[in-house]
Amino acid sequence: MSWQAIDNEVKSWLKQARKLILTKMDSDLQVSTKSGPNDLVTNLDKQVEQFYISQIKQKFKHSRILGEESCKEEGLLSFDGLFWVIDPIDGTMNFVKEKENFASMIAIYKQGKPYIAYIYDVMKDRLVWGGPALGAVYCNQTQLPAPKQHALKDGLVAISCPMVLANYRNVVEVIKASSGCRMVGSAGIEFINLILGKHCAYLSYLRPWDFLPGKILGETLGLSVKTIDDEKVDVVSSSVVLVATKSAHTEIIELVNR
Ligand code: IPD
Ligand code: CA
Ligand code: CA
Ligand code: CA
Repeated sequence: MSWQAIDNEVKSWLKQARKLILTKMDSDLQVSTKSGPNDLVTNLDKQVEQFYISQIKQKFKHSRILGEESCKEEGLLSFDGLFWVIDPIDGTMNFVKEKENFASMIAIYKQGKPYIAYIYDVMKDRLVWGGPALGAVYCNQTQLPAPKQHALKDGLVAISCPMVLANYRNVVEVIKASSGCRMVGSAGIEFINLILGKHCAYLSYLRPWDFLPGKILGETLGLSVKTIDDEKVDVVSSSVVLVATKSAHTEIIELVNR
């Protein structure tokens, strides 16, 4: 199966998911909590994930799937077929409260290696997609250049709220050394901001479905995606992930490990 065939399918699923979300988000939204009052899930998170899973199972029979809301497959690296990682709605809190700044995301691995990924900003109808299978990343139809290598002093940094509140690993020093701090509340949208060259760094505790699509896309364009200890990110575990331009990466690692 060629990457074009996979790409055609996935794009049509993402568009159908968008339609479902837009149709139901105002009239048929059921919100419940998972681990606590700020960890939300809606009927649409579950429906969109089930929709992707049913399509994958129909069209790509020998696949394995890791989905945030339902299936927790192990063995990503050892599997030699297609491995799919799904975050049906990334930024569920934004989805519920703001009705914007959320994304639907899919990452695809083939023979254990990153292949193609998709981050879809649903409300802006902006799809960022690509990866090693194409050697390029696109925003809708436009091929993206590598983001400018902004140094920390010339760039905006996004840091997740709990890290700022706890001044985790000295993040306030990172903010002071930058042009300013932003908190969007969706890992997918934060990755898009880096990929489009709007921000120079993003620091957050993330799970595999939060960071794998952005990692595939960001690394294809030369962004650095490492742990806060400057280690390789383990693709099957949760980590504090630092996504940055190469120059901001070096400065931030120095500041947080001082
Ligand atoms: C969350 C968002 C948020 C990040 C959290 C994630 P979800 O994903 O990406 O920005 O700070 O760690 O869990 O649960 O809304 O898909
Ligand atoms: Ca969630
Ligand atoms: Ca997520
Ligand atoms: Ca989610």
